[in-house]
Amino acid sequence: MPTDTTTSFPTQIDSLAGHAIADLVAEFGTPTFCYDADKIVERVNDLAAFDVVRYAQKAASNLAILDLVRRHGVLVDAVSAGEIRRAMAAGYQPTGGEHPPIVYTADIFDREALELVVEHGIPINCGSPDMIDQYGEAMKAADKTPLGITLRINPGFGHGHSQKTNTGGEQSKHGIWHEQLADCVTRAAENDLIITGLHMHIGSGTDMEHLSQVCGAMEQAAHVVGPTLTSISAGGGLPTPYRDGDQRVDLAAYFDLWDATRNRLATAFGNHISLEIEPGRYLTAESGSLIAEIRAIKQMGSNLYYLLDAGFNDLARPILYGAYHPMSICPAAGDEGSEIKSERKLQDVIVGGPLCESGDIFTQEEGGFVCSRQLPEAAVGDYLIIGCAGAYSSVMGSNYNSKPLAAEVLLQDSKAHVIRQRQTFEEMIAGEIIPK
Ligand code: LLP
Repeated sequence: MPTDTTTSFPTQIDSLAGHAIADLVAEFGTPTFCYDADKIVERVNDLAAFDVVRYAQKAASNLAILDLVRRHGVLVDAVSAGEIRRAMAAGYQPTGGEHPPIVYTADIFDREALELVVEHGIPINCGSPDMIDQYGEAMKAADKTPLGITLRINPGFGHGHSQKTNTGGEQSKHGIWHEQLADCVTRAAENDLIITGLHMHIGSGTDMEHLSQVCGAMEQAAHVVGPTLTSISAGGGLPTPYRDGDQRVDLAAYFDLWDATRNRLATAFGNHISLEIEPGRYLTAESGSLIAEIRAIKQMGSNLYYLLDAGFNDLARPILYGAYHPMSICPAAGDEGSEIKSERKLQDVIVGGPLCESGDIFTQEEGGFVCSRQLPEAAVGDYLIIGCAGAYSSVMGSNYNSKPLAAEVLLQDSKAHVIRQRQTFEEMIAGEIIPK
């Protein structure tokens, strides 16, 4: 468990995980995502008390990251056919082991996903009653013995860092509504399916109090299902620091709450109940940094702008949620091109990107209100590093304004490994066809 409970982020840095930023830029260009492998492993180890750590790969699904967590004993969830294929491409076997290596967890099956889970025998976590019937019918049609299924329950309340990431309550599309659980137990039986697990994920980046509320709801739901249960999953949503002074989550207290819930259920049912957790952000957010170059600095009335070669095509969290990411400046190599030497004063700046859209601002609050940040004085050619960009960052990138997807680099064993080449123009237009 981490011992430091508050976090601070420096506004000026020159290296990432022991690699000079100027060297990384010289080798890989900008914008580039860099991930510190040791930090991911550290976060994995924080969660060792849980029986199963199942990585929500949607947070950062590069094959190299999946391979890294797999080698450290982490299992994986998949929310789409593409994520099932990714998990297998990264070395996860679809079946075998004490706990299923891959679980498909979603609110729907598209046709490809249903075919894949049936073909490979991948267990499912159903977020809609319809999935129960569709899976039961598909397994019968394929003449396969169905596996135990798990149900994702929406307990009727939720929490998230933004309305868009709140995953519980009536305003959320996620999970099986708690009042329909009894009906789903019947549906499962009609399809000859056994419910072996329950899952709840009520929100992302949420606080401990709300996370702990779920335990009571889980216990209630478990009694509706009864002694066929062999596992419960606390879902994801473990918070991680993004701002100076953010407290680290008290993992020991969090585990204790879930452990006590699991133990009460084990006693009631006379079964061992395994305890899963399904973090995305917690494992990768802190490991990632987006390195960009400052390409223009301009004064607009009373506002000073640093404009980067990275935009919301690379990192969409600020424009989508008003999310805050720490930022640091790194002088360009040897300070060439930089008029400012070592001692840099802080000043209020607005940080934006290159896109032809006024919302392309990294310093904004939810609702799109532009705000400023105290950052060191800088010059064109200096680098700006956006921190805590290892989760929901590169994966949410797009080709808006015909910008290629950024490169990704894994810093591991004192080496910088490219784990995704910067997309080329030819790759970007590869599927496009002008009708003859
Ligand atoms: N399990 C389920 C079923 C989920 O829906 C999610 C996240 C997780 C686990 C992992 O949650 P985490 O531990 O990463 O908070 N794009 C948003 C976050 C969307 C989360 C969606 N589901 C963001 O950038 O904050």
